[in-house]
Amino acid sequence: MNKWALITGAAKRIGHCIAKQLHHDGFNILIHYSQSYNDALSLCSELNATRPNSAQIMQAELNNQIELQQFITNVKSLALPLAVLVNNASEFTPTPLGETDYLAAQQLLATNLLAPYFLAEQFAPTLKEQRGCIINLIDIHAKRPLKDHGLYSISKAALEMATLSLAQELAPDIRVNGVAPGAILWPEQSNDDSQNHVLKEIPLAKLGQPDDIAKLISHLVSAPYISGQIIAVDGGRSAVGFTGV
Ligand SMILES: NC(=O)c1ccc[n+]([C@@H]2O[C@H](COP(=O)([O-])OP(=O)(O)OC[C@H]3O[C@@H](n4cnc5c(N)ncnc54)[C@H](OP(=O)(O)O)[C@@H]3O)[C@@H](O)[C@H]2O)c1
Repeated sequence: MNKWALITGAAKRIGHCIAKQLHHDGFNILIHYSQSYNDALSLCSELNATRPNSAQIMQAELNNQIELQQFITNVKSLALPLAVLVNNASEFTPTPLGETDYLAAQQLLATNLLAPYFLAEQFAPTLKEQRGCIINLIDIHAKRPLKDHGLYSISKAALEMATLSLAQELAPDIRVNGVAPGAILWPEQSNDDSQNHVLKEIPLAKLGQPDDIAKLISHLVSAPYISGQIIAVDGGRSAVGFTGV
């Protein structure tokens, strides 16, 4: 199969796992990274060792218009038959009210909302040729704000609507879905108290695994009648209600 999947923020953590899953499914992988060059290169080598010429890396900062545009141009110049776009890269920075300046707010919204939106728009022609699909990584906090992460929560709520809107605008040629993780990998700045609090709110009483996200994405990629859906992978947490602390 000569079909490519572009995964943003694919060098580490959940993006890395999605890349390995889609590669296992037969896709070639364009690994986007920003700062994690060594991780991106190591993943790329691993995938190419399994199947020669089946992975490439490309760097881009996605938080501003100029670099986003350059990234789009660079990807287009490769002329890859792009069949899947996974918008996984995301900024998770606290933005306490009154302590966040305009530029920081703009950069967070650019990374988490505008980059996914314009990547979808700009790669729509090739995705259309491949009858492809787009998956946006959202968050259960799109529905309920996470304390001191207002702009992050706002960005994910907006990305949820972008997913529905793009599913409408790009139909019938391209399917667009969202995956909303609950607690999968702790953020670097979380402490024992907040981790215990979250764990108590999860009916399945454990963290999810990156593989839980990757397996769902694998399914969505090959599900021809699913579009415009946001699926939570959260151990039942959003079904029973949860606090945003
Ligand atoms: N982890 C969870 O439990 C959880 C929960 C809910 C939702 N999610 C969502 O699931 C997705 C994956 O989660 P994760 O925890 O694996 O993500 P993450 O580690 O917070 O971020 C993934 C990657 O995004 C890239 N990135 C960040 N800012 C960027 C920028 N301005 N420009 C370009 N790339 C940028 C980074 O790439 P480099 O390392 O190359 O710089 C980073 O490795 C995210 O969309 C996240 O919001 C995750």
